[in-house]
Amino acid sequence: MKVRVTENYQHMSATAADMIAAQIMDKPDAVLGLATGSTPLGTYNELIRAYNKSRLSFSGVRTLNLDEYVGLPQSHPQSYHTFMEENLFKRIDINPDQTFIPNGMAEDRNKECRRYENLIDEIGPPDLQVLGIGRNGHIGFNEPGTSFASTTHLVKLADSTREANARFFQSKEKVPTHAITMGITSILKSKKIILLASGEEKMPAIKHLLTGDIGEKFPASALLNHPDVTLIVDELAYPATEEENDAE
Ligand code: PGA
Repeated sequence: MKVRVTENYQHMSATAADMIAAQIMDKPDAVLGLATGSTPLGTYNELIRAYNKSRLSFSGVRTLNLDEYVGLPQSHPQSYHTFMEENLFKRIDINPDQTFIPNGMAEDRNKECRRYENLIDEIGPPDLQVLGIGRNGHIGFNEPGTSFASTTHLVKLADSTREANARFFQSKEKVPTHAITMGITSILKSKKIILLASGEEKMPAIKHLLTGDIGEKFPASALLNHPDVTLIVDELAYPATEEENDAE
């Protein structure tokens, strides 16, 4: 895993956006794996900026999102469909028919999971996957204990995840209890992965990841099995080394 420590959130976002832009310039019909959450917002803003300056076109790009809540209509303000629409898709020249997100309203959820995994294989795998990390080490909605062999599946959200996401809802009770997410195996199919982390609340998770211990109790550790992962982290999320601690 390559590690790039950046000064702050802005710099982390610009670094990630540069890598994504380079991918699109190299391959205009690239498949991007995209994430939601607060962390990638700055990256998406940088991409929109590059598009507005006519430096970048997304007209050939296809996207596969990691996950979606179960039971929220696509038009719900907190659905990941709405998130992507508001924060990226409607602000660039991407073809809406080329953007894919699991359908959290599907009646047969297992069938939807199989459909989505087939889609990943058909149009993907992503040339570049963007990931955030949860405080408990989750990636996508793969909570601790998820099998590394998992493909797209239905998950019950961890209490801590619902609590962390309650800030977007009126209360924790309003946060959906389930989601459909790409599995660990689905994520590792990507050719290249960028893992983003910002702020001191993510520091313990990054510290855990950097120990190099691999196990299903800490889903992000599966990334250590992938040949091309770049962790882009800001200084607040980057754990000081023992020597640095001693020097203080
Ligand atoms: P965040 O979420 O970017 O909102 O911190 C990341 C995650 O939980 O995967």
